[in-house]
Amino acid sequence: MAKRYSIAVVPGDGTGPEVIAEGVKVLDAAAAKAGFALDYDYFPLGGEHYLDTGELLGADTVSKLSAADAIYLGAIGHPGVKPGILEKGILLELRFQLDQYINLRPVRLYEGVSTPLKDKGPADIDFVVVRENTEGLYTGAGGCLKRGTADEVAVQESINTRKGVERCIRFAFEYCRRRNRRKKLTLCGKTNVLTFAFDLWQRVFDEVATEYPDIATDYANVDAICMWMVKNPEWFDVIVTDNMFGDIITDLGAMIQGGMGIAAGGNINPAGVSMFEPIGGSAPKYTGQGKINPLAAILAGQLMLETLGERQAAGWIEAAVQEVLRGDIKDVAAGRMGLSTSQVGDRVRAALSRG
Ligand code: IPM
Ligand code: MN
Repeated sequence: MAKRYSIAVVPGDGTGPEVIAEGVKVLDAAAAKAGFALDYDYFPLGGEHYLDTGELLGADTVSKLSAADAIYLGAIGHPGVKPGILEKGILLELRFQLDQYINLRPVRLYEGVSTPLKDKGPADIDFVVVRENTEGLYTGAGGCLKRGTADEVAVQESINTRKGVERCIRFAFEYCRRRNRRKKLTLCGKTNVLTFAFDLWQRVFDEVATEYPDIATDYANVDAICMWMVKNPEWFDVIVTDNMFGDIITDLGAMIQGGMGIAAGGNINPAGVSMFEPIGGSAPKYTGQGKINPLAAILAGQLMLETLGERQAAGWIEAAVQEVLRGDIKDVAAGRMGLSTSQVGDRVRAALSRG
């Protein structure tokens, strides 16, 4: 009997459904070739659903999602909903409730994709950011007093638990070992100013490092990392950092790898259900035009198969994407591809089936 995986699909808002359709196309081709099956269950979460029903994320939905083998997410974000409501009520809520404590974001420049970095090529830009995904400034801890008055006080606290920091750092060491490239793990923090939070991160990092003598370790402050990612991206192999810094440096990472059209990530719970997404958002101005690049969603599908243990099928997807990028696609940016969203998906599927 062929192995079957149940995939919960959340196409979401804006261009989410368009890119997810292409991702599913490619996933199905990879599964057929490898001899396993993917059963999809669609969930209508997002801005439209919220505006229609007032519901963000029902308890029932969370329990159904947590029963899946993986979640495949398009994008959450709607111009008709105040910023923060959908992001907090759906995306962050899922990350927290499903305890997806790692946000894994590969930064890789493929051949045929242009980077804004002068004199840098695919050999120089190939690293992975391991971002903590359930703590830090994202927990919502804090509050405000006397809102709207001249005496207003706003406090937003960064929560860093020993357990949360340690499991993230351990994941990063393990990942770096498994990746087996330069075997170098860089801690990105701000030990010169955030002397409580990053003192904890640094101590745990040094402690766990003793169990991984094969991994070289390094430290850089977040501001310096932003400089090095532009000046010497080839220095990095795996970077581990907290939630907020990880959010910021992975947008910088997405730009140096060619743009949001190609950047994918995984929200990982190594012992539970993980969720994979293109990191670019819902791009409302391109909705329904067939101009958005589906490659980020397709690469999110690749990460999903890799995490499910289907490494060969995942490798085929990546190779097919690389073939398409070496071909006649003009640019990875939305509207500048010289091809439509579904033409790009078709080409990846054809390359995969041929290869
Ligand atoms: C991301 C996004 C989210 C984040 C937003 C939409 C809440 O920017 O996945 O990086 O800040 O984590
Ligand atoms: Mn972000």
